[in-house]
Amino acid sequence: MAPVLELKNLNKAYGALQVTKNVSLTVVPGEIHAVIGPNGAGKTTLIGQISGALASDNGDVYFEGDNVTGLPVAKRALRGLGRSFQITSILPEFSALENVALGVQAKAGHSFRFFKAAAKEQSLNDSALRHLATVGLEQRANVRAGDLSHGEKRVLEIAIALAGEPKVLLLDEPMAGAGPEESARLVEVLGQLKTTIPMLLVEHDMDAVFQLADRISVLVYGEIIASGTVDDIRGNPAVKEAYLGTEDGV
Ligand SMILES: Nc1ncnc2c1ncn2[C@@H]1O[C@H](COP(=O)(O)OP(=O)(O)OP(=O)(O)O)[C@@H](O)[C@H]1O
Ligand SMILES: [Mg+2]
Repeated sequence: MAPVLELKNLNKAYGALQVTKNVSLTVVPGEIHAVIGPNGAGKTTLIGQISGALASDNGDVYFEGDNVTGLPVAKRALRGLGRSFQITSILPEFSALENVALGVQAKAGHSFRFFKAAAKEQSLNDSALRHLATVGLEQRANVRAGDLSHGEKRVLEIAIALAGEPKVLLLDEPMAGAGPEESARLVEVLGQLKTTIPMLLVEHDMDAVFQLADRISVLVYGEIIASGTVDDIRGNPAVKEAYLGTEDGV
């Protein structure tokens, strides 16, 4: 199957520190490709290179077959190269619904110009409610976003991302800070979404990664040292030594 996203030999250095080294990988329709690796391995840097927030020193990013390496973040996002999550974008004083509606409006842009105000608001709210329903948050639509639980905020962020109608999602530690129940909920939401929106998932929660990932690539000191299925990676001695550790029992 033709990849939605393809990275070819991406490199990024900060001075003498080579943070990503010849990183190549693909994300194909229907899959979650997880990127795991120790702190400082270069995972967030890689996501920045893919989204366009960081310029690569060399290498290319192909999205739906087109080379988008030279495009700025906004242009990549408009094409459907979904955003990442390390910085929260939730507006706490607005309701969950309003937060998503703002995302819908940002995506729709000028196409709402000819709508009457009331019709426009109805249309925005309908779309926003649909995205909230996708992540199972429709009952909380009118709750102030700042009053949502931590886990609900993380799924709200996914609903906001959905408002951008992404064709692929880049997720940087979506489970960070989530408790066991919240993680389980995120796993369920992401597991359902992946059939329509493939994802590149950076995550430290190995239980979540092993449940969700179709493929895993292991990044160590900026280099992919192994790539394969969950079973391949669990059983790979180099991966165990470099990252997973034997005490985890994996
Ligand atoms: N703007 C920067 N200037 C200099 N060095 C940087 C910069 N951003 C990141 N680094 C360095 O690059 C390396 C990779 O950082 P990065 O944040 O990509 O790692 P990571 O794999 O996401 O780690 P974590 O799991 O802790 O989130 C680290 O050594 C970091 O200190
Ligand atoms: Mg990081």
